[in-house]
Amino acid sequence: MTVLVTGAAGFIGAHLSRRLLDDGHRVIGVDSLNDYYDPAIKRARLDTLAGFEGFRFSQLDLAETGALEAAVDKHTITHIVHLAAQAGVRYSLENPRAYAQSNLIGHLNVLEFARGAKALKHLAYASSSSVYGDRSGGPFKETDETRKPVSLYAATKLGGEMLSESYARLYDISMSGLRFFTVYGAWGRPDMAYWIFTEKILRGDPITLFSAGEMSRDFTYVDDITDGIAKLLATDVPRNDGRAHEIYNLGNNTPNALMDLVGAVELACGREAEKIFEERQAGDVSRTFADISAAKAAFGYDPKTKIEQGIPEFVRWYREFYKV
Ligand SMILES: NC(=O)c1ccc[n+]([C@@H]2O[C@H](COP(=O)([O-])OP(=O)(O)OC[C@H]3O[C@@H](n4cnc5c(N)ncnc54)[C@H](O)[C@@H]3O)[C@@H](O)[C@H]2O)c1
Repeated sequence: MTVLVTGAAGFIGAHLSRRLLDDGHRVIGVDSLNDYYDPAIKRARLDTLAGFEGFRFSQLDLAETGALEAAVDKHTITHIVHLAAQAGVRYSLENPRAYAQSNLIGHLNVLEFARGAKALKHLAYASSSSVYGDRSGGPFKETDETRKPVSLYAATKLGGEMLSESYARLYDISMSGLRFFTVYGAWGRPDMAYWIFTEKILRGDPITLFSAGEMSRDFTYVDDITDGIAKLLATDVPRNDGRAHEIYNLGNNTPNALMDLVGAVELACGREAEKIFEERQAGDVSRTFADISAAKAAFGYDPKTKIEQGIPEFVRWYREFYKV
């Protein structure tokens, strides 16, 4: 396979690139290396891939018309995993246009690239559990209602799914939309709760918990996600009634309360945190919980990691990386 990975310097993109290279595939990575969070981490992730002969990287902004076509020979690409996006729920209140640029225009430009890529077998792209809106109960199924996003981030991820649906129908491009559920792990994202808690607890600073009593998340370890994507690419996924585009939840199927996450970080850091409790922030949802039976049946997705195992792995990496 020759796989175009967008967002290759990002958290999930770098892990996926590594997994695909380890499996002997060629990876063409692209990323804008934007400064939503410290680009030094993105460069350090790329450094871990630089030694692989099968890895090529181009820095470019997918929202720029023609940038992808200018950097990548589309005829060589057999698979695309489109992960580049403006992520983060809270930042979408501050900088909404970044979401329109990367998640709508950028997504459309990837679809246009795919339309002309004649050797392309499959395009998988990242969607998000946030498309389910603010729900109770669960597990959430791919067929559930998704017309009530509570953040602009969620709205643009849903928009990406809609753009894909139209291109899959119009141009018969085989696609999978992957709704990731709160992914965490080594080389993670500095804007996410597990990272912020670790940073503050190790420094001895208090942590702020928003709506701590009610919030739960289906925390999913990054290796389980990349294993799922690798399995999807390796499988000629059977499609229902000839449809080219399917949506799959990639979660852990085990929601944990936010306080369980805090407890796991405290245990791994060997310190108890001073906690400040605050009200829920706009755009946040109270619960996520993935039904993963569709991904299991279609390509053998099989997440294994509990937060009791995954969080210590993250904290170990963090301490080594920052020497704390
Ligand atoms: N991490 C999670 O918990 C989670 C949950 C649900 C969905 N997702 C989705 O998974 C994907 C990967 O997320 P991540 O956690 O690795 O985030 P990340 O921010 O670490 O990675 C995204 C990368 O995309 C790049 N990028 C952004 N806009 C770009 C553009 N216009 N052109 C080129 N590159 C651009 C960024 O520089 C970044 O390196 C995203 O689509 C995100 O929305 C992530």
